[in-house]
Amino acid sequence: MNKGKKLYEGKAKIIYQTNDKGLVIQHFKDDATAFNALKKANIEGKGVLNNRISEYLLNTLAQCGIETHLVKRLNMREQLIKQVEIIPVEFVIRNIATGSLTKRLGISEGTVLNKPLLEYYLKNDELDDPLISKEHIYSFEWANEQEIQAIDKMSLRINDILQGVFRGVGIKLIDFKLEYGRTWNKDKEVNEIILADEISPDTCRLWDIKTDKKLDKDRFRKDLGNLIEAYQDVARRLGIMPEEMNISEVNFGKTASIKFKKK
Ligand code: TMP
Ligand code: ASP
Repeated sequence: MNKGKKLYEGKAKIIYQTNDKGLVIQHFKDDATAFNALKKANIEGKGVLNNRISEYLLNTLAQCGIETHLVKRLNMREQLIKQVEIIPVEFVIRNIATGSLTKRLGISEGTVLNKPLLEYYLKNDELDDPLISKEHIYSFEWANEQEIQAIDKMSLRINDILQGVFRGVGIKLIDFKLEYGRTWNKDKEVNEIILADEISPDTCRLWDIKTDKKLDKDRFRKDLGNLIEAYQDVARRLGIMPEEMNISEVNFGKTASIKFKKK
């Protein structure tokens, strides 16, 4: 399998063609952005950690029967994935109120929601990813009713699984964002919706169960510092990073020297 030309570059990832039909390479960059790229930084090692954490979470979901785009992790920064047509909607699932929900609707920070709240945002940086309703999705044919029904069901199942995974390692899953894509299933001769993109501390809010310490990209959004240490803490708790690894000893510029625990 050869790496071909760049097909797409997003804020945190790059997609490359391969000579395998239907498969592409997803490369995790160290770039961090917030507020639709108004705030930018390069945080050494972030891409390596997100690649590994996302691989672990997507594999865990696959073991529970969720279809995902992940074929396999190739190296420290790259994954082989199925090429999909991304649905231009960001699917947000919330368990506890924080972030834009508290700002937009005046809900108190930390309110435990009586059931998971599903929200839809249009994936459009120029428009600042506006909140949309299902009716917008149907009206503009970003997805049909059957697809959204399937996605809602999958998102709630993913929430249940991930809440369990994180609770087991002392972390509360506050909220997170998912993206889905369509792919052609040649056996069934239908378009299938599968989970795409990534699930990592960039796309989730993760708080320590006891202290509510933020272990996610809010450390960058809110200038709390120590982002890499927090992401490493998540990886370590998930059992995918050697306990003895100390951030001060890690030179992420030489990423080949980092060894992850094999599960
Ligand atoms: P929000 O409270 O800012 O709307 O974010 C909700 C969740 O979605 C949070 O876990 C962060 C994640 N998210 C992304 O992954 N990408 C984005 O562009 C935004 C705005 C949020
Ligand atoms: N991902 C968005 C950005 O790059 C927003 C965010 O995650 O806060 O600006």
